[in-house]
Amino acid sequence: MAEALIHRLAEVGSTMDAARTLAEAGALHGTAVSARIQTGGRGRSGRQWLSPAGNLYVTIILRPGGDARHAPELGFVCALALAEAVDGLAGPGTRLKWPNDVLRNGAKLAGILLERLPDGAVLAGIGVNVALQPEGMPYPVTSLRALDSPAEPEDVLTALLARLHAGWAVWQASGFAAVLARWRERGPVLGATLRVRLETGIVTGSFAGLGEDGSLQLETGTGRRTLVAGDVLL
Ligand code: BTN
Repeated sequence: MAEALIHRLAEVGSTMDAARTLAEAGALHGTAVSARIQTGGRGRSGRQWLSPAGNLYVTIILRPGGDARHAPELGFVCALALAEAVDGLAGPGTRLKWPNDVLRNGAKLAGILLERLPDGAVLAGIGVNVALQPEGMPYPVTSLRALDSPAEPEDVLTALLARLHAGWAVWQASGFAAVLARWRERGPVLGATLRVRLETGIVTGSFAGLGEDGSLQLETGTGRRTLVAGDVLL
């Protein structure tokens, strides 16, 4: 990843849309769009991502090249980079929740939304609770401020881009297995009970590891399930 070009916006609907426009115009790998405020921030599964001033909202344009089947791997690369950045700012203890949420003390600190473009580019949208944590969420949330970190959104962005630069190099040189090995160190322990929301409902089972494609292996009462999409519930 070359020296990143960062477009800093005061206010935008969603940095995903601003980044998409740039990517469609040919923006280079590593180009980032951040905003102080988003008026239409979005999360995974069509959920809203509340985006008042104080937190980090950024989308990074990634151009992985190669086979489009590897695109989902980028969520793991980004989550790992983000976890490492948070460790650097708030001290060790950052965990990961499949597929790519970042947790501290069992509460959500950051989320990642991936969107693919027809030309193979991937937009990695990252929201980090820096100064504020949204209220009324159906799961526990936290922020860097609540963890006593004085970091500002710009500090998080700088650390994130540096870690992503390094993590990208690992992914390219050593492959996804190397990324997964590091993800596992921050993921659930084997045998932990997980509840996963699928489009068809909620499935409960014990964590049996990750497949080599990053799929979630869940041991359920009716046998082993391999999940490629869904949300582990907190
Ligand atoms: C999630 O549901 O956990 C993913 C949240 C992703 C939010 C970020 S904020 C920057 C980018 N712009 C958006 O509208 N969404 C992502």
